Amino acid sequence: MKYRRLGRTNWSVSEVGYGMWGLAGWTGSDEREVMRALQRAVDLGCNFFDTAWAYGDGKSEAMLGRIRRDNAGRHLYIATKIPPKNRRWPSRRDYTLDDCFPPDHITEYVHRSLDNLGAETIDLIQFHTWEDSWVDDDRWYRQLDELRRQGLIRAIGISLNRWEPWNGVRAVNSGLIDTVQVIYNIFDQNPEDELFPACQSRDVGVIARVPFDEGTLTGALTRDSRWPADDWRSTYFVPENLNASLARVDRLKPLVPPGMTMPEMALRFILSHPAVSTTIPGMRTVQHVESNLAASDAGPLPAALRAQLRAHRWDRTPMPWSQ
Ligand SMILES: NC(=O)c1ccc[n+]([C@@H]2O[C@H](COP(=O)([O-])OP(=O)(O)OC[C@H]3O[C@@H](n4cnc5c(N)ncnc54)[C@H](OP(=O)(O)O)[C@@H]3O)[C@@H](O)[C@H]2O)c1
Repeated sequence: MKYRRLGRTNWSVSEVGYGMWGLAGWTGSDEREVMRALQRAVDLGCNFFDTAWAYGDGKSEAMLGRIRRDNAGRHLYIATKIPPKNRRWPSRRDYTLDDCFPPDHITEYVHRSLDNLGAETIDLIQFHTWEDSWVDDDRWYRQLDELRRQGLIRAIGISLNRWEPWNGVRAVNSGLIDTVQVIYNIFDQNPEDELFPACQSRDVGVIARVPFDEGTLTGALTRDSRWPADDWRSTYFVPENLNASLARVDRLKPLVPPGMTMPEMALRFILSHPAVSTTIPGMRTVQHVESNLAASDAGPLPAALRAQLRAHRWDRTPMPWSQ
């Protein structure tokens, strides 16, 4: 495993981190296998774990707490998120700070997450939705800064809404935040336009999330893939999305070099960008942990393949189903 600096936090984080949403929120999770997968990741050098209160209403945080206690001799970085008070994902332009992250709500959820994690400090606290207009209402910053002074949190981050990388550039340039979490993958390359240069110039760490486009970029989904009604993916992979995505995946398949898998190509594409500090694939099995973490040792993709993948950029705008 290779490590990168997480921007101005100066922490050395594994360039493949652990996305902890699916293991507590998607159907088909086997808790014993998930705990084995988390331990395998630790053993292979993963030290950055992205969770959220909203992932199973604290369940994912509690699992991270268990794996940290089982590995007390190592520092495993906790990145968690405060849910918006109005419980609406994504935020919309007319949502105010009071709708989503009023100061008392911020404090309440930092304490709730600390309880779930069984920790005294959260390394990185992130807002689970973000509107760049909130930069002008700095009550959120003053509240978090106070919690930082109390030793309850160490660093501050924002997690950007799907397909809105522009909606965090002001926050990055404000100098108030330490990290930004954004969707970046072979399809969603547009953080490269404005957001990544801003992060590089402000020394803001970049957490590249959804490396597999929620699954299509693993090559494992088909036009017949279906999910139970209570699984979030049943509302995201509506035919309009699933079919268009898989048509693009079909065009990518011939580019996967012999001896490489599509998930490996997807992760190494992301790690080829120097602005990225870590990428956080969602993993629930030991097998996925082993194959995904190996992408770090394999290094960046060859330049010729990267150039070919540029043509597969897909600029999308939020849709009613895209959440
Ligand atoms: N708003 C936010 O802040 C936000 C939103 C979304 C995600 N996130 C964070 O980003 C993380 C990653 O995103 P994600 O989990 O939604 O999507 P993702 O990482 O793009 O895709 C996860 C899917 O890929 C599959 N997979 C993983 N490794 C694989 C491999 N080697 N071979 C084949 N399939 C593989 C998983 O399989 P299984 O189904 O078998 O597990 C799962 O279905 C989340 O876990 C969460 O921490 C944050």
